[in-house]
Amino acid sequence: MKEIIISNTVLIYDTIKELTNEDNNLLKKAIEAKSKAYAPYSKFKVGAALLLKNGKIILGNNQENAAYPSGMCAERVAIWKAFSSYPNAIVKKIAITASSETFTLDKPVSPCGSCRQTLSEYEINQKEPIEILFMGEIGKIIKVNSLKTLLPFSFDNSFL
Ligand code: THU
Repeated sequence: MKEIIISNTVLIYDTIKELTNEDNNLLKKAIEAKSKAYAPYSKFKVGAALLLKNGKIILGNNQENAAYPSGMCAERVAIWKAFSSYPNAIVKKIAITASSETFTLDKPVSPCGSCRQTLSEYEINQKEPIEILFMGEIGKIIKVNSLKTLLPFSFDNSFL
């Protein structure tokens, strides 16, 4: 038996003001995207903003559906929007935020497992890490430097 310790660096910021201008700006774009989310069922709006290496910012938000499983998360709307328009894009970072109409979300919104898997596919392809920043409506901001931090031992095309 061999024990492996997986260690990762996670940065936790108390306020958006502590972020670099680039991160601050991207998170503000995610807030803007969130305001346009279509979330009439959960009343939980999520916004995502991707910064591409060429400087372009791509926005996405959750899109719900009366047939609930047909809805889609903000992160996947954003990443698919980016790669359907720019198939050779390199994603530098993604900022994610959320808020609810029924309570105050005071902790960073963690991307769901399917979104992590989807983002991981593109990170592996581009061979450059994607930074992920996430926050709630208020409160702390979490920043990690790669999908590998959020999704260790991921399934990828090396298994196929
Ligand atoms: N949601 C996202 O957009 N991203 C996530 O990572 C988690 C959940 C959305 C899906 C649904 O519209 C609402 O939040 C409640 O689950």
